Amino acid sequence: MSEPKALAERKQHIVLGVCGSIAAYKAAELARRLVAANYEVRCVMTEAAQEFLGAKTLEAITGAAVITGFWDGSENGSISHIALADWADCVVIAPATADTIAKLALGFSENPLLALVLATRAATVVAPAMNCNMWEHAATQRNVETLRSHGVTIVDPAHGMLACGWEGSGRLAELDDIVLAMETRLSVAPMQGMRVLVAAGPTREPIDPVRFISNRSSGKMGIALVRQALIRGAAVELVHGPIDLAVPRAAAVTPVTTAQEMYDVVRQRAHQGGPWDMIIMAAAVADFRPRHQESSKIKGSRGLESLSLEANPDILATLGTELRGRDRPYLIGFAVATGAESELVQDAKEKLARKRADMVVANLAADGFEGDTNRVWLVDSTAQVRALECATKDSIAAQILEAAIAAKSREGRDDV
Ligand SMILES: Cc1cc2nc3c(=O)[nH]c(=O)nc-3n(C[C@H](O)[C@H](O)[C@H](O)COP(=O)(O)O)c2cc1C
Repeated sequence: MSEPKALAERKQHIVLGVCGSIAAYKAAELARRLVAANYEVRCVMTEAAQEFLGAKTLEAITGAAVITGFWDGSENGSISHIALADWADCVVIAPATADTIAKLALGFSENPLLALVLATRAATVVAPAMNCNMWEHAATQRNVETLRSHGVTIVDPAHGMLACGWEGSGRLAELDDIVLAMETRLSVAPMQGMRVLVAAGPTREPIDPVRFISNRSSGKMGIALVRQALIRGAAVELVHGPIDLAVPRAAAVTPVTTAQEMYDVVRQRAHQGGPWDMIIMAAAVADFRPRHQESSKIKGSRGLESLSLEANPDILATLGTELRGRDRPYLIGFAVATGAESELVQDAKEKLARKRADMVVANLAADGFEGDTNRVWLVDSTAQVRALECATKDSIAAQILEAAIAAKSREGRDDV
C-alpha cells in the first residue's frame, strides 16, 4: 500500500478509459484539462473507441503511450493493465458505452479497460453517453445501479439533442461535472456529513417589465464555493440570482431574481431546511430597489428624471440575528468596496460585528468582479486578518472553507 505522505507529494494519477461513442472526441478535451490541472494521465481505449478517436491524439495530449490491447507494453515483462490498475488513484471512464457498462456490471474482463476496472482498488467514475432510449432501457438502468452498488460514481448523462437525432437524456455530462465527481472521489472529504447553504450571483431589481437595476457580480465566487464544498464531501444547497454559469449538478439549486426573493428563499431554507453547518452569503444582493415598479414599459419619450429607491431587506443581518443557539451555523458574509485596502478591512470588521456574522470575506471590486481570480481578506472574530494572495476563485474558495472548518472546530461547534 502506498504511503499517504508520498501520495500527497506526487501528482495524482488518473486512468482515463475511452469507449466507442460519438462523444469519444470529448475525451481529448477532458485529458487536456486533467493534464493542465497537474494530474498525470494515462489512457486506455477500447477497440470501438479507436474508430472515433485516434490513440495518437491522446498520446500527444498526455505524453504517454495509450493502452489499446492486452499486449501493449508487455515487452519488458510488465502486464500493462494490472500495472495501470495499481498506479491509478482514480479511474474515469468517459464516455462509457452501454456495452462497457453492461460488461462492467457483470465483471467481464475481455479487454484491457474492463480488466483494469476489475483489478483496481482505486475509485472509479463512469460517465455514460448513449442514445436516450438505450440509457432509459431497464437493462442499462439495472447495470448502472449494479455499478453504483459496487461503489462506482456515475455521472449521469445530460438532457439535450443527441447526435443520433433524438432529444433526451444521454449526452455525456459536462466535463466540469465529470472532473468534479473525480475530484470528490480523490479528496479526503473533510466536510463529509456537513450541510452548506450558499447564496450566489447578483439580484435584479425591476424598474419596469424590461429594465432593472443590477450589478457586475458573475456568481463565479459562489459557484467555486459550491464546487469546493462538494469536493470536500458536504451536501450543498445553492440559491442564486441570474447567472450565466454551469452549476454543479450535485448541488440542490433554487434560482431567484430579486433581493426580496433571495431573502425569502434563503430565510426559509435557513430555518426550515436545516440544521446547517455553514451558510455562505456570497451573493451580491442589491441594497436598494425601485420604490415602484411600473407595470408597462416606461416610454423613452415620457422621460424619467429620477428614480425613487427603497432599501432591500438585509439577508446576512437577518440571519445573524435570527440564528442563535447551539445549532447556529457558521455564518460567512462577503464585503466588496472600491476604496483602499485598509478602508475595506475596517468596513469588513464593522460589518462582521453589525451583522453578527462569523466571518466576512472582503474583496475589492477591481479584483473580484467577473474574472476567474480574486484576492481577499478574511476577517473573523479573532484579531488577525488573513490576506489571501491573488489566486483562482476555486483556490480562494478552498482556503475560505478550510479557514471556516478550522474556526468551527476551534470553537467546538462541531466535532470535525
Ligand atoms: C456511429 C456510432 C456511434 C455510437 N455511439 C454510441 C454511444 O454514444 N453510446 C453507446 O453506448 N454506444 C454507441 N455505439 C455502439 C458502440 O460503439 C458499440 O456498442 C461498441 O460495441 C461499444 O464498444 P466498447 O464499449 O468496447 O467501446 C455507437 C456505434 C456507432 C457505429
